[in-house]
Amino acid sequence: MTSNVRPADMARITTVELANAFIDQQIKELRSQIGDKKVLLALSGGVDSSVVAALLIKAVGKQLTCVHVNHGLLRKGEPEQVIEVFRNQMNANLVYVDAVDRFLDKLAGVTEPEEKRKIIGAEFIRVFEEEARKLDGIKFLAQGTIYPDILESDGVKAHHNVGGLPEDLQFELVEPVKLLFKDEVRVVGKALGLPDNMVYRQPFPGPGLGVRCTGAITRERLEAVRESDAILREEFAKNGLAGKVWQYFTIVPDYRSTGIRDGKRCWDWPVVIRAVNTKDAMTATVEDIPFSLLQHITDRILHEVKGVNRVLYDMTPKPVGTIEWE
Ligand code: XMP
Repeated sequence: MTSNVRPADMARITTVELANAFIDQQIKELRSQIGDKKVLLALSGGVDSSVVAALLIKAVGKQLTCVHVNHGLLRKGEPEQVIEVFRNQMNANLVYVDAVDRFLDKLAGVTEPEEKRKIIGAEFIRVFEEEARKLDGIKFLAQGTIYPDILESDGVKAHHNVGGLPEDLQFELVEPVKLLFKDEVRVVGKALGLPDNMVYRQPFPGPGLGVRCTGAITRERLEAVRESDAILREEFAKNGLAGKVWQYFTIVPDYRSTGIRDGKRCWDWPVVIRAVNTKDAMTATVEDIPFSLLQHITDRILHEVKGVNRVLYDMTPKPVGTIEWE
């Protein structure tokens, strides 16, 4: 296994040429590490695990099995994109697990944020474990660990965390991007031919939309989060904000207010828009969105998202507010 320390003379990967050299080197190393054995990867569709999948597909093809767990808390279109890119375009072995009901049943009635996170994390490991047990002869577990994960924590990141697997499922680790910084992973992803919206994706928490559907998650409110988030992302992309704003999303709090729709009173949820800029997520400032764009997004959300009768813009910097609401 290679060292967890980035050599002082390692050049920063900033160009396609440097990325291609890294890819060629990794393919050699992966082939020599893996030989003719089998590798398993939890593929979330985020940039890190996607780059690891694409590297392994190039290096060992069908010896890799990717498991994509749809826990029902992904953004609109994400599971479909994972299937399209990896199964249809890259011809990978991809096991798609529809675990939506399982996760939402476990989360029903749970209001406490850390409890929600714990349930999502534990259930993810359980689903992944079940899939791993169905496969024979797996020797390696690939992970999208990147260098900041090693610097900042124990090297196992929350949303790739399958480190909770039981004793008899302890595989040897394969971590081909563990010495890279995020910007380098993106350059490598681009060179590997991954789509831009996968490579330049904004940060997305492991518990996904679950922390943006505050309090007890219900299917209806979760759908309102997913649909309003899709509208916000579409409008930010159209208006040149997608690559500019660090993180932007919507929240649907567990609180209703009165409104009027088609001449009748309604009792519906608000959608809160959050758009922030930061360097390290420790502090954040609020993006100055043009008022006309806010009005247009409000209009679309009110007309296109079921069960919503109000749209608010969160003006709170971090501190005092955290970036997520839970
Ligand atoms: P906060 O809300 O603490 O968020 O200001 C800082 C950054 O971390 C992300 N975040 C998470 N990421 N698992 C993750 O993988 C989590 O449980 C989690 N909670 C927050 C958040 O989206 C922001 O980028």
